[in-house]
Amino acid sequence: MTDDSSDAAKPTGQPTGPAPKGQAMWGGRFADKPAELMQAINVSIGFDKRLAAQDLAGSRAHAEMLRTTGVISAEDEAQIQAGLKTIGEEIEGGVFPFREEYEDIHMNVEARLRELIGPPAGRLHTARSRNDQVAVDFRMWVRDACDQTGDQLRRLQRALLNKAEAHAADLMPGFTHLQPAQPVTFGHHLMAYVEMFGRDASRFADARTRMNESPLGAAALAGSPFPIDRFQTAKALGFDRPTANSLDSVSDRDFALESLAAAAICAIHLSRLAEEIVIWMTPQFGFITLSDAFTTGSSIMPQKKNPDAAELVRAKAGRLLASFTHLAVVMKGLPLTYSKDMQEDKEPTFEAFDALRLSIAAMTGMIADLTANTGRMSAAAGAGFSTATDLADWLVRELNLPFREAHHITGSAVKLAETLGVDLPGLPLAELQALEPRITASVYEVLTPEASASSRRSYGGASPEQVRVQIQRWKEILA
Ligand code: ARG
Repeated sequence: MTDDSSDAAKPTGQPTGPAPKGQAMWGGRFADKPAELMQAINVSIGFDKRLAAQDLAGSRAHAEMLRTTGVISAEDEAQIQAGLKTIGEEIEGGVFPFREEYEDIHMNVEARLRELIGPPAGRLHTARSRNDQVAVDFRMWVRDACDQTGDQLRRLQRALLNKAEAHAADLMPGFTHLQPAQPVTFGHHLMAYVEMFGRDASRFADARTRMNESPLGAAALAGSPFPIDRFQTAKALGFDRPTANSLDSVSDRDFALESLAAAAICAIHLSRLAEEIVIWMTPQFGFITLSDAFTTGSSIMPQKKNPDAAELVRAKAGRLLASFTHLAVVMKGLPLTYSKDMQEDKEPTFEAFDALRLSIAAMTGMIADLTANTGRMSAAAGAGFSTATDLADWLVRELNLPFREAHHITGSAVKLAETLGVDLPGLPLAELQALEPRITASVYEVLTPEASASSRRSYGGASPEQVRVQIQRWKEILA
């Protein structure tokens, strides 16, 4: 905490206007200064300084609107705009004096404006409250975060798409229960994530559409008696329209919650891919190699190459889920309209988007960086009797057996292969015929992993041909 008594004596200029030395900006009816502890719990400038750009944009639009509606003079507006411009430059240049005694970003900007231009600064807050001010600033911040995340997700999708294209026909085992299930291709597996990140991007886009209404002009909670033009400020700030209920405008944070929910789901997707990278990197799997750029060594075990980046992406999901829960709990049960509880909306949101930004960037880097060990993957694709379903399907198709019976015969074939220590294509025809006499040598054509994967030509299936159809579709979407 800064000592209050020093506040007016800062070298940044003498405050003029209504906040006398030692008193907060809202201190008119207060005889005493707030207790230090009060300030300590109340202050938010440490984190809401991240809303500075949005706060300035909001103030510029508000001042312009006050002038066009005749609420303030052209001269006052000109001074306010000039002062706000200087403040913007100070913030950009890293020389703006962020001061705890002015509590939050809104009052820091206004206090500085007063130092720079004097009395006209006091007119900026006409027909406005910090309640609609913070609501509009925060909305714009979250809106930007959603847009940036969407761009980042598209970059990640492009990285996945490139790898998928290179490996559209390269076999790998498809798993259920992390047990070999049916052969697929590495490209098909990567394209599964292109779908997930595509839905994530669309969730951010949906959230953006819903949040894109301006709360500015709702003022404290009830609207304003001044002849303000909320449509003008909404337009100037890139909103589709103003919000339609002043109470709702200052009291809901569902736009942040919705974005945090989208972020949490996206982080869950990232954590699954991260987990797969960790598994694929193990010498036991050996499916992929990451370069030194995305791995670390061990301080004691010289042979180690650890997938730390993937592990950290996997772990960040915890933070993202916590952020959603954090804000949901803050908002739950709050009566309308604004309560100071809502100041606690920003840190979880900032933290979540910071973590998500890093996670997507690291994942994009890892995907571009990884080398697929196609030999290992393809060998594994044939292991574990992964073409057993193909044998059963052959029995159904060629011999017209009911699937349940075919399943049973195939189970016996697998058991036999296990006993003989061979894979399914290694079973002698005589042994197969002992299980079902009508089996012919043509069955072997479906028992290789290549044949298995290429046979799955249903829309969205694992055949290289289908994988390429989806790669092409996404290329057009992302173009
Ligand atoms: N710093 C506050 C926040 O983030 C700004 C709004 C304060 N409004 C009020 N009525 N005290 O929520």
